[in-house]
Amino acid sequence: MLQLKELYKVFNEGTPDEKIALHQVSLTLMPGDFVTVIGSNGAGKSTLMNMISGVLLPDVGEVLIENKDVSKLPEHKRGKYIGRVFKTQWPEPPLP
Ligand SMILES: Nc1ncnc2c1ncn2[C@@H]1O[C@H](COP(=O)(O)OP(=O)(O)OP(=O)(O)O)[C@@H](O)[C@H]1O
Ligand SMILES: [Mg+2]
Repeated sequence: MLQLKELYKVFNEGTPDEKIALHQVSLTLMPGDFVTVIGSNGAGKSTLMNMISGVLLPDVGEVLIENKDVSKLPEHKRGKYIGRVFKTQWPEPPLP
């Protein structure tokens, strides 16, 4: 089970470039659930995925995997709880 509890993330806080990327985002996914996240450019989709995988840590809120609070675990330590597959290979494979 994956639980997101009131995730909040602001970039460049206190500057003219301040942007609240996530504002109280909550979600509970059970085993077998299939979810598609949609949203316009800049809606916060990547920020959300980065927060689940540990690339980014929430300013406020919690990420729980099987009831374990992983909110403060960086990506390399979170890897034993959750995996992520990117749609593109990086670096790009050489052209044939
Ligand atoms: N590292 C960062 N520094 C500053 N602002 C950021 C950073 N990452 C994201 N943002 C800002 O946070 C908001 C959400 O960005 P995010 O990349 O999560 O959106 P997205 O839904 O993935 O967009 P897209 O459809 O273009 O991929 C945007 O306004 C973006 O400019
Ligand atoms: Mg994105």
